[in-house]
Amino acid sequence: MIIVSASLLAADFNNLGYDCSRAADAGCDWLHFDIMDGMFVPSISFGGPVLQSVAKAARIPVDVHMMVVEPSRYIPRYAELGAAGITIHAEASKDPAADLRLIRSLGLRVGVALKPATPVSEIEELMPLCDMVLVMTVEPGFGGQPFMPETLVKIRQVREFADKQGLPLDIQVDGGINGETALLVREAGANVLVSGSYLFEAENMTAAQMSLRK
Ligand code: DX5
Ligand code: ZN
Repeated sequence: MIIVSASLLAADFNNLGYDCSRAADAGCDWLHFDIMDGMFVPSISFGGPVLQSVAKAARIPVDVHMMVVEPSRYIPRYAELGAAGITIHAEASKDPAADLRLIRSLGLRVGVALKPATPVSEIEELMPLCDMVLVMTVEPGFGGQPFMPETLVKIRQVREFADKQGLPLDIQVDGGINGETALLVREAGANVLVSGSYLFEAENMTAAQMSLRK
């Protein structure tokens, strides 16, 4: 099943609630919530208080992508505030397995993310602890960057590994996803498509989100 997740980093923050509704009305499946700490990535986005407001009003699940050093410091709080799932970066944690187990113990969907330069071999042991692997298709930190085609091989590697091990993993992609790149990542094995600027800048968000599925 294809899941389309609208990345709120590209929303209009003067009208955040309206843009959350717009994504749900357009037929997006999830909201993608990027938390950046200015350490793991250069920029700072938004954190707990904004998550609380969004999760309270959202009509579709809010999936949190943590670009944060030592994410365990915040995982319980974000669970309490209404995250449906939390994805941490393998590179950001001293003990990613423990963090993934913590997310699981709180009853949330569990995800592990990889930067473009991090090889898939680094997360092979973590995959059995996860519902989802996020293969970043741009360098994390900013919206609106062009898709990196060299990440396609990693999507295939994750899909092959998961199939071989019999793991029912979702594969998420994030960065530069539009009507054209969606086809490439889906062919490689991705099924959860995060998209920010393409969806929020579209004249017709319904048509735009549908174009990611075909
Ligand atoms: C980048 C974020 C993405 C970003 C994607 O670090 O994780 O979720 O919002 O934006 P687009 O779809 O514009 O590349
Ligand atoms: Zn993201």
